[in-house]
Amino acid sequence: MKAHIVTLPGDGVGPEVTAAAVAVLKAVAARYQHAFSFDEQLIGGAAIDACGEPLPGTSLAACQAADAVLLGAVGGPKWSDPNAAVRPEQGLLALRAALGVYANLRPLQVHPALANLSPLKNEKLRHVDVLFVRELTGGAYFGAKTRSADAATDECRYTVGEIERVVRRAFELARGRRHQLTSVDKANVLETSRLWRSTVQRLAADYPDVKVEHQLVDSMAMLLLTQPNRYDVVVTENLFGDILTDEAAALAGSLGLLPSASLGDGKAGLYEPIHGSAPDIAGQGVANPVGAILSAAMLLRHSLELETEAALIEAAVDQVLRDGPRSRDIGGSAGTAEMCGAVLAAIAEHADNNAAFFA
Ligand code: NAD
Ligand code: IPM
Ligand code: MN
Repeated sequence: MKAHIVTLPGDGVGPEVTAAAVAVLKAVAARYQHAFSFDEQLIGGAAIDACGEPLPGTSLAACQAADAVLLGAVGGPKWSDPNAAVRPEQGLLALRAALGVYANLRPLQVHPALANLSPLKNEKLRHVDVLFVRELTGGAYFGAKTRSADAATDECRYTVGEIERVVRRAFELARGRRHQLTSVDKANVLETSRLWRSTVQRLAADYPDVKVEHQLVDSMAMLLLTQPNRYDVVVTENLFGDILTDEAAALAGSLGLLPSASLGDGKAGLYEPIHGSAPDIAGQGVANPVGAILSAAMLLRHSLELETEAALIEAAVDQVLRDGPRSRDIGGSAGTAEMCGAVLAAIAEHADNNAAFFA
């Protein structure tokens, strides 16, 4: 098949992990005779440095015309002055809004070989398989902002329509899994959360086969650590989802492992690891590329409907996490390129050994 993919490497380790994900996509394309074209564009701090804005019009237009967008990370100390007029993160938020990707899927599984890296006891991590569905284009991220010398505000606003579309997406996803949906809110305090909860309650009637529970976000933060294997699909608003998924990454062993897919009703999906630009390790060639590589697998699955190819990448990553090599964040000393090379070798090996399955 033919597909046009825009890459947005961004800042810090973004370019390092994106290069690995692109190498994996190219290997898969060669093996299955797909014609993928790649177009690299600017976003974030790199775009601010080049042309003064975090999402140049040319980058946005390229993304809007693409079949899928693969992003590394944006941000870093160079652009983090709290009084800066323009910020890298604004480029990412503008892109998510412009693409209308309101549902951010962040799967969490704990690889048995990495369970000892988590601060939790091993037995708590057995059978952990959670799909977070984070609302991505509303809430405090996108409300009106004010700032004066002695006060600041961030409006948190949700409409029923914004809640409904992401919650329906979560119900549908739960139907394809274990038929359980946990909706996380702060309905004991926030009006937006009360609207959220009543919308979930109303929609639940359309999905009688899905078991719904509501959980307040503060206790959810605790339950995620004490009973992580109790959850199937977890749906929540933008800011809560941002925080809970970084917490979830600690269960997996490293923030560098977790991928994401951001989907809307339009053409291009946006795919990015959940981690940031990791300024503390940027430029050293040591970032873990697994989150980015698994994001590429999600791109194949959700935007291009190439399930076999996606599963092949996931099987290859699984093998590397089991047998090594390992990057520093997961207890080894391999660099980004070595990790990527191992995934490429595992792809070739799996495809050859399981030719019937990965045909
Ligand atoms: P971060 O995710 O960049 O890093 C947190 C910690 O995780 C660091 O110790 C880092 O070294 C480690 N880490 C992250 N990715 C890793 C990888 N692939 N391999 C190994 N270790 C990895 O979070 P932060 O330091 O709070 O934020 C830094 C910058 O990144 C900020 O400017 C923030 O706005 C931005 N950010 C961007 C995105 C994005 O572009 N989607 C996401 C989160 C943060
Ligand atoms: C993420 C990041 C972003 C977010 C920032 C960089 C705007 O933390 O993708 O999780 O908060 O959504
Ligand atoms: Mn985040």
